Parts: sequence; structure tokens; C-alpha cells
Amino acid sequence: MKIAFILSLVASVPLTYALYQKSGPVQILDHRNFHNLLEKEPVALVEFFAPWCGHCKQLAVPYGKVAENLKGMVKIAAIDCDEEDNKPICGEHEVQGFPTIKLFKHGKVQEDYQGQRTAKAIADYAVEQIPNMVKKVTDKNLEQFLSDKNETAKVGLFTQKAATSALWKSLALNFKDKAIVFQVRDNQKSVLELFGITTFPTIFVLPGGDSPIVIYESDEIKAPALNKFVNRFITSEQTSDQETFGKSKTEVDSPKSQVNHLTSDIFESLCLAKSSKAICAIAFLPSYSDSQDEWIHTLDSTVTLAHKLNVKNFQFFWSSGSLSEKILKVLNFEAKLPAMVALNGRRGWVQKFQGDFDKDALQDFILATKNGDGKRDKIDMEKFSGWSKGDSTEPVQEAVAKEDISVTAEEPTAEKTPGQHDEL
Ligand SMILES: *[C@@H]1O[C@H](CO)[C@@H](O)[C@H](O)[C@H]1NC(C)=O
Repeated sequence: MKIAFILSLVASVPLTYALYQKSGPVQILDHRNFHNLLEKEPVALVEFFAPWCGHCKQLAVPYGKVAENLKGMVKIAAIDCDEEDNKPICGEHEVQGFPTIKLFKHGKVQEDYQGQRTAKAIADYAVEQIPNMVKKVTDKNLEQFLSDKNETAKVGLFTQKAATSALWKSLALNFKDKAIVFQVRDNQKSVLELFGITTFPTIFVLPGGDSPIVIYESDEIKAPALNKFVNRFITSEQTSDQETFGKSKTEVDSPKSQVNHLTSDIFESLCLAKSSKAICAIAFLPSYSDSQDEWIHTLDSTVTLAHKLNVKNFQFFWSSGSLSEKILKVLNFEAKLPAMVALNGRRGWVQKFQGDFDKDALQDFILATKNGDGKRDKIDMEKFSGWSKGDSTEPVQEAVAKEDISVTAEEPTAEKTPGQHDEL
């Protein structure tokens, strides 16, 4: 019975997607997702087609190439007008013949594409539609630039070119209101000097406040990889949803993480401060690695488990680069990365973890810390005293009390962390 039912389902799947594969780079639209998906896209091209039409078949290959090429930059979509349920949408858009390509901005149709149906012509047209929101930073406006929205992540490109590339424009558009995307020309001496940039192109992020810069070290200068990289510096409320377009949850490249990037501000105010009841669980990750997403994913799973264990006062972060080096040094932790610590600045102790960085091991570590099992080292708080202004040089309390991390402890100073920890 069951098998017969499944077979009949398979058999009834229409062949109307024959021009474009569902998993391919061209986003398949239908009457259900058409408005919702397009609304989110600042710039999108939509091809209205019929699978039997000869010109549509001819267009399929170049159109697919455009989509592949502009992944993460401009959404390239298509809708099958032969499909009964889609006909009203095609009618509404007054499609006269197939294929018709229309330009959409935030779900609103702008115009019909009138150019040649080659991959190059279509791609050129598509990227011309990306507005330029990239800030140009010069020796003259540098100071103003750094003081403006100082807590917002700034993403910089140092380049020998005067023009702004489509890739960089699309990054600025994708992270509009979430990060500031800028570029600096190689003749702006003071800017280069301040950041110590000597090679071009260089991409980096200023995570916000006084947190040290994080350089993008991958050779993959492509929109999906860059979107992912920048996404790590966006706090949860601001998480860009552009990556989720048209993908099922499991396929999403940069899921909204429950684990924040650690900044020195947060480290001081939340992890070190005497007034804070939080225990900071900090994962130290190698600066740039292809596995970084995987590790953050592992951390996410660990946090989900931790929620179930009701470890209310734990706050989870990840750190890499110079801030993490600094912290590890003060903690006397010569770990092979990735590694983790649980740290209580108020009580002045740290518990260290290294080994297999998987969710079972991390969960065990969190549980052991919560239960007061395992070895705790005293932190030499004086070494952090430059960071945590105020009382951190006071003698550290000797006793490491179990009740410190009791499961019913008060909510940690949640307002100090960006979002998402309100469940902890
Ligand atoms: C914030 O201002 C400080 C001091 O000018 C500067 O060093 C830092 O890079 C700025 N951070 C951002 C993200 O603008």
C-alpha cells in the first residue's frame, strides 16, 4: 500500500521543471512562493517560461550560467507559466510571449529585459541593477568614518582599483543596515598605515568597538563565501536572511547562530566583570579554516543541548585571531585549536577543554563545569586588569563554590550580549 502510494506520488510529479532542476542555481518560483521570495530580494530577474517553447529551451543553459555566476549577488529565478496554478501570476504580469525576463526589486516589477539572450548580456544587465552603497574611505574621512556607528561591524576592501566591483556592491546591499561595507584605494596612506595593509586586494572586518580586525584569509573571493564570512560578525537580531532564500532549512549556509562572536567589550563586561554572574563558554577557533562553519554548527548543537540541561548562566561565544590569542596567553592555555574554556571572572576561575571538538565532548565539558567536576585553574586576574576597568585587580576569591553555577541562578546580564541568549 505504502509503496504503491509513494510510487504514484513519484509518477505524478510533473515534468514541468525539466528546464531547470529544483536543486540548481536558478530559483524555481511558483504560485505559493512567488511573492514571499521576491519581496525579500532587492534585485531579482524572473524568467516567465513554458517548458515546450524552443526559445526557452535555448535560454536554459545561459540563464543557468548567469544564476551560477551571480550566486549570492542577484537572485535569478524562473516560473513555469504552463503550470495551471501559476497561470494567474503570469497573467497578472501580462506575459505576452515566452520567454519573458522581468526585473524585480523587492517584489515589484520594474521593466522587461530587452537585451540579448546570452549569459554575458543578461549578467551585465543584472549587476547594473545593484545600487552602490559602498562607502569610500579616504585619509580625509577616516576619523569620521571610525567614530560613526562604532559598534556596527565594518567590512573593508583594500584595492588598487578606483571603481567598485559588482561583488562589493552586492555585499553592501546584502548587509544594508547590518554592517557597513567600505573600500579603500591603495593611495590612501594614512588608512593603510592605520590598519597595516600592504597587499591588495585585502578584505577584513572590524567587528565593532575596539575589537581587533579579522582578515579574510581565504582565496575564495566569491559572494557566497564572503556573505558567510560577514554573517559571522552580525549579531542575531540582525542576521541577514539573504542566504536562506529558496533553500530548505538544512541547506542554509549560515544558519542564525546561537553563538556570538566574542568582542573585547563583551569579554570585559560580561566574562570578567565582578558584577556579572555569567559563565562564559568560549570556543577558540583557528583564524580561518574551512571547518569553521562546522565548528560553529557544533557549538550551536551544544548550546541547544545546554538549554535542555538548564544551564542558565552559561553564555556561549566563539573567538579567533588576536583577541583569542591574547586571552589564551593570559589563561596559560597552550591549546591546539579548536579548544574551549568555561570562565568565571567574578570568581576568578577557568576550566579548560581540549580534545575532540564534537558536541558530545563539549556537552560533557559543560555538564562537568556546571556540576563542579573537573579541574579549575585560578585566573591571574591582574593580567586582565588593563581590559576590565575597575575592580578586577581586587584579590580573587579562593573558593570555587558549586552553587555559583547552580541551575537556578539568576539570569545573566543579558542586556550586555547581543540578542539570542535570552533563553539561557
Ligand atoms: C571604533 O573606534 C576606535 C577608535 O577610533 C577604532 O579603533 C575602531 O576601529 C572603531 N571600530 C569600528 C568598528 O569602527
